[in-house]
Amino acid sequence: MSLQEKLEALKTETAAKIAAASDLNVLNQIRVETLGKKGPITEVLRGMKDLSAEERPKVGAFANEIRDELTAAIATKKAELEAAALDLALAKEAIDVTLPGKQIPQGNRHVLTQILEEIEDIFVGMGYQVIEGNEVESDHYNFQRMNLPKDHPARDMQDTFYISNEVLIRTHTSPVQARVMEKHDFSQGPLRMISPGKVFRRDTDDATHSHQFHQIEGLVIDKNVTMADLKGTLEVMMKKMFGADRKIRLRPSYFPFTEPSVEVDVSCFKCGGAGCNVCKHTGWIEILGAGMVHPDVLTMSGIDPEVYSGFAFGLGPDRVAMLRYGVNDIRNFYQNDVRFLSQFKGE
Ligand code: DAH
Repeated sequence: MSLQEKLEALKTETAAKIAAASDLNVLNQIRVETLGKKGPITEVLRGMKDLSAEERPKVGAFANEIRDELTAAIATKKAELEAAALDLALAKEAIDVTLPGKQIPQGNRHVLTQILEEIEDIFVGMGYQVIEGNEVESDHYNFQRMNLPKDHPARDMQDTFYISNEVLIRTHTSPVQARVMEKHDFSQGPLRMISPGKVFRRDTDDATHSHQFHQIEGLVIDKNVTMADLKGTLEVMMKKMFGADRKIRLRPSYFPFTEPSVEVDVSCFKCGGAGCNVCKHTGWIEILGAGMVHPDVLTMSGIDPEVYSGFAFGLGPDRVAMLRYGVNDIRNFYQNDVRFLSQFKGE
């Protein structure tokens, strides 16, 4: 067999192998075996040294031609196999976009957080600042600056968790009043703030008592602030929270940090005042404590009570939530039972 014939045969045979190659590995093997350094074409070319000078270039050119043809055939086949492999992978991984997706359970903010934010919004709308105080407080701010010296009998109203003689976890949000008053610069305008947060009392937990609950403190200090301002502010707040036809009433009360002090009732939002189980058939719901800031409290915070006056109030958002949603056990708010909490989706 002449070299040309050998090459021709090699071409036919290899072309058939290429056509039959079923995957990329096989194809690669054919390429290495046929076109590689130890392959038959190289071998044929090696035999060229025995050819005459005139035949050599012809056979050489023919060999190159065959090499080029086979290289091109391999490239074409490779592209075909790759396209087929891609089609297969795509078919396997096909996603049916019409199938329903997985439901991702959506949480919601805690019902008390929702109430706090709702009340914050009302007051921010009236130009109040929202100020966070400290949960760990000193006896000084929690009591003394609120006009409750060490031996004051009204300290008994607030059973206290002491950390040391001077440090405690706050029993009310009122100490924030003192912290804010002593820093306020009245040349920048009046002081209007609310302070929502957790408070703690050494109570035995039951349906209406929890050792941890929330308060929202309110405080306004300016020249000529009167009880009428307090009343008007509380009325706006109650109407926004419980409905436009709510009324409020003030009853005299006692808090060491206010003088005079009042307890504030709102007309029942469920029965409108006729009497029902929410208002215990009185038509009124006791909702917060308030009063005119005691002159001594002002003085202790460096504010001259001859020039400035103000009002303060303390509201219990846990109670607001209980009343509004008919929750009859305050402990529900603190047990983190998702079955309970997920009922309050909020907006
Ligand atoms: N700090 C009081 C308490 O925990 C609530 C309170 C009453 C706050 C009257 C006030 C207020 O600011 O004026 O019982």
